[in-house]
Amino acid sequence: MEHTPRKKRGPWIDLALITSILTLLSLIILFLVSDDENGFSKSQITAAEPLIDSTITKENSTFPGIHIISDISDDHKVPFSIQYPQIEDEKFNSIIEEYIQASKRAYINDMHKDKNKDSDTTRSDGLTIQFDTYQHDNKYFSFVFTERISKNTEEIKTKIKTVFYDVEAGKILDIRTLLGEDTKSLETFANHVRARLKTSPSLQKTIQKEKVDLATEPRWILFDQFAVHNDDLLIYFDEGTIAPAEDGPISINISLSFLNPLLASEFQTQMIEAEKAPGGQVEGQKKRVALTFDDGPHPQVTLQILQCLEKYKAKATFFMLGSRVQQYPDIALKVKNNGHELGNHTWSHPILPKLTEAQIMQEFTTTEKAIFDATGQEATVFRPPYGATNEAINQRIPKDSVLWSIDTLDWKHKNAEKLIAQVKQHMHNNAIILMHDIHQSTADALPAVLDFLSKEGYEFVTVSEILPYR
Ligand code: NI
Repeated sequence: MEHTPRKKRGPWIDLALITSILTLLSLIILFLVSDDENGFSKSQITAAEPLIDSTITKENSTFPGIHIISDISDDHKVPFSIQYPQIEDEKFNSIIEEYIQASKRAYINDMHKDKNKDSDTTRSDGLTIQFDTYQHDNKYFSFVFTERISKNTEEIKTKIKTVFYDVEAGKILDIRTLLGEDTKSLETFANHVRARLKTSPSLQKTIQKEKVDLATEPRWILFDQFAVHNDDLLIYFDEGTIAPAEDGPISINISLSFLNPLLASEFQTQMIEAEKAPGGQVEGQKKRVALTFDDGPHPQVTLQILQCLEKYKAKATFFMLGSRVQQYPDIALKVKNNGHELGNHTWSHPILPKLTEAQIMQEFTTTEKAIFDATGQEATVFRPPYGATNEAINQRIPKDSVLWSIDTLDWKHKNAEKLIAQVKQHMHNNAIILMHDIHQSTADALPAVLDFLSKEGYEFVTVSEILPYR
């Protein structure tokens, strides 16, 4: 009785032993195989890139010290055309290279994935990366990369990447540095950007206001796509972040002079002090004056003023009322076509501090739209009627609010002689002179004013051009 179960157990134990050995073996094999699989796919990812043959060339750009690297695919099934800058800074180059390679890898991997599904539709896919270079102050370069992926000749994805480079320091700078690492400045800045997006007439059809609110919260990371171009700060928003994705990435520009109080000192407009100090008396220094005309356009007076300005090759700034632009869009267009600066002077010329915030924004936004509709161009500056404004209004209106330094009182005297006398009496360098292109007497006085000022050696510039010197 004792032996029987033992004898029966013998093969049982053997079986169990064999089974467990087999299990262990198969586990080991499975482990090895899966590891091998991992290793295989890993090497496939890293190998994917060299699998695509491409031609890499290097040439000079129009900017000294910046080379353009072109990387163009030789494989028509995986087409790409990539350009990126290379400079004398290894750190910069490796950051750019990293970005380019990551984009390329993601694209190639996507193509391989797609190929497994259906080989026919992927034929005309393509990746292009191009970049624009903007120089600022001889010290900074902005590189703006546009990355496009297309499928069957239709663009399906566009991405923007920007790099702002300080040539002297040899460093890439972010928006935090630009705004002096100041969270208060960030808040104000975020508000400006939000207001600009919501009031810019060219964006009204595209932007989605709820999205704008989210995309312009005061967080550094939301504003890290930027460039500096022509004394404007350009801010880029990714596809789908403030507008429907099919509208692509969206950018807005805000003038640096408007942002001046928020900027770190090294980015604030610098020539001011150098030129302002001696009062324009030093030899070889430029004398400038900005003529401004408010409350128009007017069908006769504005035209007469335009003729006179043309004769003296003088540029001026016209602060227009939206209601009058709507009435005389062709005159507004002529002002723009003659190369003058366009300013927003509200819709109905109210005393702004007496209005509600909503009414103020209504006055501003409707005029922005009227000017844009008439001229195809946005106003660049703002002037509150009667010069009546306050801190809260200046915070709300997302453009430079420009007053004046010489009031000709043309609206009061309506007398050409008195207008000229006012100018002669109060003239100083970098003056902003207030006139109105709705009084015949102003148009009549203008030749004498221009004659006097040009003989005194003044150059006639727009308000935006004179702001840095004030
Ligand atoms: Ni006015």
